[in-house]
Amino acid sequence: MFTKESIDTERLPKHIAIIMDGNGRWAKEKGEDRLFGHLHGVESVRDIVEGAAELGVEYLTLYAFSTENWDRPEDEVAGLMELLVDTIKKEVPTLNKNNIKLHVIGDTSMLPAFAQEELQEAIQETAHNNGLNLIMALSYSSRWEIINAVKQIASDVKNGKLEADAITHETIQQYLATKNFPDPELMIRTSGEFRISNFLLYQLAYTELYFTNTRWPDFRKENLYEAIHDFQQRERRFGKTGEQVKKEKTTHP
Ligand code: IPE
Ligand code: IPE
Ligand code: MG
Repeated sequence: MFTKESIDTERLPKHIAIIMDGNGRWAKEKGEDRLFGHLHGVESVRDIVEGAAELGVEYLTLYAFSTENWDRPEDEVAGLMELLVDTIKKEVPTLNKNNIKLHVIGDTSMLPAFAQEELQEAIQETAHNNGLNLIMALSYSSRWEIINAVKQIASDVKNGKLEADAITHETIQQYLATKNFPDPELMIRTSGEFRISNFLLYQLAYTELYFTNTRWPDFRKENLYEAIHDFQQRERRFGKTGEQVKKEKTTHP
């Protein structure tokens, strides 16, 4: 069993991103319908947000709904939208109590009007907080984000705002939906699927990936601690050799 004490708080990942997967299967395994799983998934969201805030993680990105998820059965999409809006609305006082600032990335123009309004309100009401940054990826997909970035870059080059030759990695970062956040250091996917499903393709370039069979509605703080503990055992080399990395650690610990 992993506890908070299993973690070295000096070496926390600054940014953790999670693909919250497995709500549907969790519900089916209990003979319930998929929405029952989503409903229970909210409990995990609460627990993990609280756990990340308690540890002092600076950024937590949660993949809640992909652009491809719009193709799910209509009643599931409608149920999910209602649940998302309801939850965000209800959680604002808790977010404020815990100094959590809410952000949203994704094509929110696809969301129903009531959802867009509630989200904007929640973002404004938590804008003054300076603890954990909670980034909800809603109607998000990485290809959507990259296409948008390329369009804007092309338009800025055409209008003379940007020199094509001057485009760097930092320029591209500034055109992504995540421009205000550092890249995730740890990415967790629940429920046993080994894929990225159109999530942060550019930003995950050097992220440590962690996959667990635990279904999202069963994922709790202990599971988060386990993932962080696993992350802390790894050597991140960024293309260098292990010897170089060890030497750097002894010269700039
Ligand atoms: C994740 O659970 C939540 C969303 C994608 C909205 P799923 O609904 O994908 O659950 P499974 O993968 O079908 O079990
Ligand atoms: C990814 O899960 C999206 C979210 C968790 C919001 P999916 O369940 O949609 O992914 P696939 O279809 O299994 O790749
Ligand atoms: Mg799924």
